[in-house]
Amino acid sequence: MCGIICYSGSKKAIPILINGLKKLEYRGYDSAGLSVIEDKTPITIKSEGKVSNLEAKTSNITTNASYGIAHTRWATHGRPSEINAHPQLDNKNKICVVHNGIIENYKDLKYELINKGYIFISDTDTEVIAHLIDMYFTDDLEIAVLKTVERLSGTFGLAVIHADIDHKIIIVKRGSPIVIGVGDNEFFAASDPIAISDYTNKIIVLNDDEMAVLNSKEYFIKNLRNEVLKKNIKIVDKDSYSNDKKGFESFMLKEIFEQPISIKNAFRGRIIESEGVSKLGGLEPVLERLKSIKKLIIVSCGTSFYSGKLGRYIFESLTELDVEVEIASEFRYRKFTLDKDVAVLALSQSGETADTIAALKEAKRKGALLLGMVNEVGTTITQLTDAGVYNHAGSEIGVASTKIYTSQLVLLTLMGLLIGRYHGLSFIEGKSIIDGIKKLPEQIKEILSNAKNIQKVSKKYAHFRDFLYIGRLYNYPTAMEAALKLKEISYIHAEGYPAGEMKHGPISLIDENFPTVAIAPDDEVMDKMLSNIEQIKARNGKILSVTNSSAKKVIEISDDIFIVPKTIPVLQPILNIIPLQLFAYYIAKEKGRNIDKPRNLAKSVTVE
Ligand code: M6R
Repeated sequence: MCGIICYSGSKKAIPILINGLKKLEYRGYDSAGLSVIEDKTPITIKSEGKVSNLEAKTSNITTNASYGIAHTRWATHGRPSEINAHPQLDNKNKICVVHNGIIENYKDLKYELINKGYIFISDTDTEVIAHLIDMYFTDDLEIAVLKTVERLSGTFGLAVIHADIDHKIIIVKRGSPIVIGVGDNEFFAASDPIAISDYTNKIIVLNDDEMAVLNSKEYFIKNLRNEVLKKNIKIVDKDSYSNDKKGFESFMLKEIFEQPISIKNAFRGRIIESEGVSKLGGLEPVLERLKSIKKLIIVSCGTSFYSGKLGRYIFESLTELDVEVEIASEFRYRKFTLDKDVAVLALSQSGETADTIAALKEAKRKGALLLGMVNEVGTTITQLTDAGVYNHAGSEIGVASTKIYTSQLVLLTLMGLLIGRYHGLSFIEGKSIIDGIKKLPEQIKEILSNAKNIQKVSKKYAHFRDFLYIGRLYNYPTAMEAALKLKEISYIHAEGYPAGEMKHGPISLIDENFPTVAIAPDDEVMDKMLSNIEQIKARNGKILSVTNSSAKKVIEISDDIFIVPKTIPVLQPILNIIPLQLFAYYIAKEKGRNIDKPRNLAKSVTVE
């Protein structure tokens, strides 16, 4: 959703800001804007739609301005328009503000400011910030911003410049991520390190209620009492923050093909073969408490919810924990009690999903141990939780999650292994899981080498309007995730169902125009899956199966098949989803969809 990039240095600011905005495009947005200051005069340019529209407008502007702030907006208050795009300015056109997040008390503040004579131009919540800063400003911008922040409730990552204060940018964070980029006599701020990855790999992650003050020579990190803080600079791996397609036609395809690497990165250095156990450094601070928990509640949204659903099967198989999985936006409104024996685990690629954050806050209030599994380093969920693990999968730019899903499944298995070995899981069982995990990258490569054939089969199915995906046990969540992939990028209706439920309703949908994708590996429920497939065939339903070469009966009965290597049941879903990610991809491609940025969707969903 919204994105921020700021620059203060000696180079021309506009190209740097535009480049940063382009890198933030993947997050989803509907308008963009920037303000730079030259000779105490702000130049503000905004446009609806793509950053390229904004870029086109800036091409007529000649300025050497070397500091400024920029924003991509995803409308929350007021429709997408130039007026509502950020930066928002005060009435004197001196103070420029960009803001990610939501100001919950903006209406009250707006009335107060209107009564004091301020004129509002936009429908945004952000505009109140610009007027409040003006109201509090005498000669010290930091003080004015601090007084303003005291009045705000809600979430914000915000950046402020003032026409009369040379090169100074003030940034404050509460709830919306902000990193500061440190260069040589130039400083950056961004809502996502990717925006500044072309300029520096030295970043400082701001925590909630911290403020950064940048100019072209130096920077300070302060708390909201205006006291200077000492914070470490992190060196980030530029490659993992790059948004280069590396020769692939889209980010989603690149990310699907990166899975052998992202999976290796998920388990690298995290297994102790000689003990048949895993080692997750991020959980070590809470290991003693973790050993004694009785119940695990997994909260997440979208694809992360489906990996959570699979997580339940994984934990039930490897540990003695009682496991619940709940969609974060539902969990936060339920009436429940939690105690010290309960851990709540949030799964999130972005670490910024508003519903998941709200669920964690609710769980914290009730005293549970909070754990996180996040890909994006330093984001809100990593700061909110007591401990957690990183995916280390590199940036995922395609809106449809692929490599993070499989990475989450590997990490859930490693977590299950860690806890399970304190419960009844034997060394031999632990060892066989480790052996299975180590083989995954090569097995995925084998599936990917068959992409051409998967594309050929996919083309045959691209004209259908509806799909059913079915599976049992581990492959029920796989069916749901595979259906989500198809619907989000191809806009075809698809539903994931537990195969055993077919006869209780959905089978009435089946005819020759309603194909079913059956995830039917050679496992303990294969015979049951075969019966379900027979029932669909008997009603003229077309069947595309994902299965193993040893599952002869499934192969015989299916109209089309994707063969995947066989592994232990707990890991099989990681292989089963790969051809179905490609199936969704190639159908969407056949239909000419905007695969990396499907309509109406954003990569990071920061509103509830
Ligand atoms: O960043 P998160 O993992 O918390 O995001 C959760 C969902 O918004 C996300 O998985 C979404 O469903 C994806 N578009 C799925 O491909």
